[in-house]
Amino acid sequence: MDTHDLDQAIVSARELLAERTPVIVFTGAGMSADAGVPTFIGEGSVWRGRQITDILTPEAYKADPRFVWDWHLEMRSLLARVARLEAHQRLADWSRENEDVHVITQNIDGLHERAGQQRLIRLHGSVWYNQCAACKHVVPDDTLQYTVLPRCPRCRDGRQRPHVVWYGEPLEKRVYKQAEKLVAKAKILLVVGTSGRVYPAARLIADARSSGATIVDINPFDSFIKSDVTIRLGAQDAFERLFE
Ligand code: APR
Repeated sequence: MDTHDLDQAIVSARELLAERTPVIVFTGAGMSADAGVPTFIGEGSVWRGRQITDILTPEAYKADPRFVWDWHLEMRSLLARVARLEAHQRLADWSRENEDVHVITQNIDGLHERAGQQRLIRLHGSVWYNQCAACKHVVPDDTLQYTVLPRCPRCRDGRQRPHVVWYGEPLEKRVYKQAEKLVAKAKILLVVGTSGRVYPAARLIADARSSGATIVDINPFDSFIKSDVTIRLGAQDAFERLFE
């Protein structure tokens, strides 16, 4: 994409965002890349010598809960060190002034929440919550290390696991339905930093297209997303130009 195409894409996206609502912002791991959080493609795809797609699974947790917990605890530590959140902040500020903007995220990092994002749906849960494997009770938790893996404070019986939807697990029906409902009304779907390869989340993009939404994609690299307007920039640079 040359500079002229990029400028043109920014102008088109700005016009679309100013004129057509509701806008649904659909974010993936690339949203947090500029804050220093690795995406699941490239450097973040392997951890302690194992593919991330083999670690974040119910099978891996059953075989070695400590190993799987350790990935989540290390993610919490990394997130606790994140100092600047420009992309999330700009989006949160912009959407504060625009009631008809909603964010649906695949991210489990809690960075939208930290930036004060309103009207947010979390499709895949959050590393900052634990869920009891037995009674399903969910509690916030910001512990960075456990000597002993945590037990449920309510039933006192079950083990707690990260409240995260792992590969191969179904999404919470209620949450996905809420997202589908929003997407059905979208005039613009602003896709930010997702490869579009993780289902059923990525289906929302096809759904939006089928119901007539214009798809604007922000991604510095190629992805599987079919978009009407493509902005080949990182989220931070793109938002700086879109929401100045
Ligand atoms: N700004 C925007 N996008 C970026 C940036 C950046 N600075 N850097 C990288 N990207 C893009 C990559 O080009 C890629 O298309 O972000 C995308 C990240 O893709 P994935 O790592 O596959 O992340 P995502 O699409 O969110 O899917 C992974 O799987 O385990 C689940 O919950 C997890 O939501 C996560 C999903």
